[in-house]
Amino acid sequence: MILGASGQLGQALNAEAMNLPDATRRLLCFIPRQALELTDSRALKHCLQQYSPSIIINACAYTNVDEAERQVELAWLINQQLVAELSHYAKANGAALLHCSTDYVFNGGQHQPYTEIDTPAPLNQYGKSKLAGENAMLDIAPAGLILRTSWLYSEFGHNFVRRIVSKIRQGSLLQVVNDQIGSPTYARELAALCIKLVMAPDFTERFAKTRLLHCAGQGQASWYQLAQEIVRLTRSDIAVAAVSSNQWLALAKRPAFSVLSSEALTEQLGLSLPPWQHSLSICLQKMGQSE
Ligand SMILES: NC(=O)c1ccc[n+]([C@@H]2O[C@H](COP(=O)([O-])OP(=O)(O)OC[C@H]3O[C@@H](n4cnc5c(N)ncnc54)[C@H](OP(=O)(O)O)[C@@H]3O)[C@@H](O)[C@H]2O)c1
Repeated sequence: MILGASGQLGQALNAEAMNLPDATRRLLCFIPRQALELTDSRALKHCLQQYSPSIIINACAYTNVDEAERQVELAWLINQQLVAELSHYAKANGAALLHCSTDYVFNGGQHQPYTEIDTPAPLNQYGKSKLAGENAMLDIAPAGLILRTSWLYSEFGHNFVRRIVSKIRQGSLLQVVNDQIGSPTYARELAALCIKLVMAPDFTERFAKTRLLHCAGQGQASWYQLAQEIVRLTRSDIAVAAVSSNQWLALAKRPAFSVLSSEALTEQLGLSLPPWQHSLSICLQKMGQSE
């Protein structure tokens, strides 16, 4: 069962599921928001009872980083309480949970890629609520995996790459912050990796106790460098102006450095995502924006 099916990762999972044989794809059940309001615990329980999923992929989250400062309660309901409820369901029913978390659990105070043993210290409500969700799952400890990812983009939903492409099309001025550095991650590749993991016959046994791993595109970039690469790949002649975060009035603080090391993913599971520049060019091709 895939929750959050109408979001960016949810749509990417749906697109990647098209590569599965029909019989396997029919095992997947995508639940969009229109079908289930996840703040409604009773409706969620009913849905879980009805489908009795053996594996849940939680692609649902409250992801509006600035609005989370205003809608604190709602952000925590989705990012913490829902994860706790899903973890309890999984634990009680011998099911497994694949959950996604974020690089924003870190405060950006270090200058080398964050590993799973680095201490989180989120700067904003989004990061705090996502960290609380991770901790709920780790405490309840159902079978499953938390994949911390970062700077997701794709041809679906709301994301930085789509915003920049749209501004390039409109010929708008591009002003982009150059003092936040992260790991751009193509949601289609993350989705393909999630599907590969859950389709393995031993997923539940392999992750019998909740584990946490980082899973992000290789390399690092500032938003400014990412925008410059989009401009280059789309052969646009629009100039990109670098601005500092101070000039960008945002409600929520963001980490200056949140690059994730995915080395443990490679060491433990033999999996990795490609370098971000390569993934970006594939995404832009899918969007019809480059050759
Ligand atoms: N996007 C990033 O840059 C990024 C970075 C690091 C980690 N992550 C993590 O990656 C995962 C996927 O992110 P994403 O980019 O796919 O996020 P997204 O596009 O915002 O998708 C989240 C989905 O959850 C749904 N949702 C929110 N509240 C709900 C509710 N009360 N009931 C039912 N559905 C609800 C949203 O519906 P609506 O669209 O109707 O609100 C949306 O479809 C999340 O765990 C996120 O924290 C994302």
